Amino acid sequence: MILTVPGDKSISQRALILAALAEGESRLSGLLPGADPASTAEALRALGASVPPLPPGGGEVLVAGLGLRGLRPPAAPLDLGNSGTGARLLMGVLAGHPFEAVLTGDPSLRSRPMRRVTEPLALMGASFEELGGESRLPIRVRGGPLRPLEYDLPVASAQVKSTLLLAGLVSGVRVLLSEPGRSRDHTERMLHHVGVQVLGDPQGARWRVELRDPPARIPPLELRVPGDFSSAAFLLVLGLLGGAGGSLTVTGVGLNPTRTGLLPLLERMGGRPRLEGGRDRGGEPVGDVTVSPADLVGVEVGEADVLAAIDEIPVLVAAAARARGTTRITGAGELRVKETDRIRAMAEGLRALGVASEELDDGLLVEGTDRPLSGTVDARLDHRVAMAFGVLGALPGNDVTVEGAGAVDVSFPTFWETLSRIRTEAVRAARGAHRSGGNAALAGAGGSGVREGRGPIVTLDGPAGSGKSTTAKEVARRLRFRHLDSGALYRALTHALLRDGVSPEAWPRLEPEDLDRYDIRVEAGDDELGILLEGERLGDQELRGREVTGHVSTVAGLGAVRAWLLERQREAGRLGRLVADGRDMGTVVFPDADAKVFLVADLEERARRRLGDHGVTAPRGDEVAEEAARLRDRDARDSEREVSPLRRPEDALELDTTGLTFEEQVQAILEWVAERTRSGT
Ligand code: S3P
Repeated sequence: MILTVPGDKSISQRALILAALAEGESRLSGLLPGADPASTAEALRALGASVPPLPPGGGEVLVAGLGLRGLRPPAAPLDLGNSGTGARLLMGVLAGHPFEAVLTGDPSLRSRPMRRVTEPLALMGASFEELGGESRLPIRVRGGPLRPLEYDLPVASAQVKSTLLLAGLVSGVRVLLSEPGRSRDHTERMLHHVGVQVLGDPQGARWRVELRDPPARIPPLELRVPGDFSSAAFLLVLGLLGGAGGSLTVTGVGLNPTRTGLLPLLERMGGRPRLEGGRDRGGEPVGDVTVSPADLVGVEVGEADVLAAIDEIPVLVAAAARARGTTRITGAGELRVKETDRIRAMAEGLRALGVASEELDDGLLVEGTDRPLSGTVDARLDHRVAMAFGVLGALPGNDVTVEGAGAVDVSFPTFWETLSRIRTEAVRAARGAHRSGGNAALAGAGGSGVREGRGPIVTLDGPAGSGKSTTAKEVARRLRFRHLDSGALYRALTHALLRDGVSPEAWPRLEPEDLDRYDIRVEAGDDELGILLEGERLGDQELRGREVTGHVSTVAGLGAVRAWLLERQREAGRLGRLVADGRDMGTVVFPDADAKVFLVADLEERARRRLGDHGVTAPRGDEVAEEAARLRDRDARDSEREVSPLRRPEDALELDTTGLTFEEQVQAILEWVAERTRSGT
């Protein structure tokens, strides 16, 4: 099972802040559409920046920056909700602005210590008024020109480090810091990405960071935010504990080494997470992580392990609850000042489910068990506590109610849907494997061998412009099946070849092995199956551009390409309940599909539809004739090519859609599917 996770919370918030401080328009995509970045975005708007709403699917956002000291005084207190990163980093930015602002947050944020940032910022010259008690929000910030800073952080903290670096950047002064361990370095990487020098090196046991010559302005950012490793961590542990019914891959996830400390810990517990990739996105490494079910054992986790796994301790505790033996975590005192006291929340939650667990000052003990777990736990306004218990609840045999489950909105708004999707797939897989006697049904000689009794496959083939794709999509929607647009796979590969400058003259010589370097996959999803290139979901921009459209039929005519993409398409078929459209779906890819349709339409009608798709609603006669000639050419190429020529599958319903309305077409197909599946063929 291949999954993606929403954008990284830490990187999303930094990107929004730096975009607001840049000169010019930044282009950000993959931002986490969660409550924390939304709070930061809202605060930036109140400070005068124009930040559009964050799109739910992580689509592109354009932010017009105001320059390094261009923010404006807010009319009301800035409410950062649950976001510690937002509140602290903005405190640094505001310290360098010559006005007053009040920062506040929800009850969780108002209980978290703020002196860790206000004290060093006061050394630089900013002043603070604590309106909510010692070290607590709400706090009034009075900023202005700042002095350079040399400061030794008492605890390693990326939030504190980033706050001080941003204060130095905004006010144009040198900042030299040291921390007792190396906390996550997203700010340093992002600053480097926009051309700002930040030096980092070890200094004895400590880590030294220096912003030496801050520039007077920063250019806009072009950034695609990687998937959040901390969100992926919940799915990976679920996979290790057997909750996915087999292996589970999270693709397109950030693999910054200051964040992935959970992986060696899981390895010590007996899991074998496999990493692939190491692609670079805006200075951050990105790749895929795969896990398979494993028997875990308890481990000792000490201070040195905790920093790079600071947000993953709750899910590690969940893993420990299912491991053989005792897990002892120490050196994790910082967990007491996260969104809640995570040591207490996890220990009490585990006990409520019948798992023996004991709090230590700076950690906890967990006695693993394989007994079924049941009970109610309180998320205490903490997204990661909610998700850690969510993982335990998603394991077969367990029954866990999470109170305050909505807390997941902060960092992984689709968490509960993702869990139930994984569970449905796992159950489906188990049933399929059972019926087909293990995995023997896969790739049998001669046939497609893709059917494992997991629900019908419907194929829709036809020439260019016959309306396959829109029709297939609607049929899938009505049947509640998934839709595989196979043309998009060919387009994805065409895009990748063009992107990499592989010249079209060289294409006929490509072998399937040459294509192995392209990581193109079909995303596991509930409805529209997205196409992933190197873990990124491709959109119309990549798939439907003029260049790709001009070359795709050549690429699709290559034997090596068709052979190579065959497996990827059949992979999607293994899940069943699929409507697949293309040119050889019913003949080559799924020859034993349950219901096959072959769409045809008059050449002229198809030409008009094509023009309509491109926005030409009332075409002139010569435009129609020209498009029809182009389609005739394409038909000839598609049906005369040596590999997988376009032809009607023998057992297909041939549907001439020329005089039919869209609804009539869809109805005709639905009836055919009902008939075929009823008769058991
Ligand atoms: C964060 C840093 C970490 C982490 C938090 C986000 C950041 O806190 O726990 O979820 O975005 O900088 P520290 O300040 O303890 O490093």
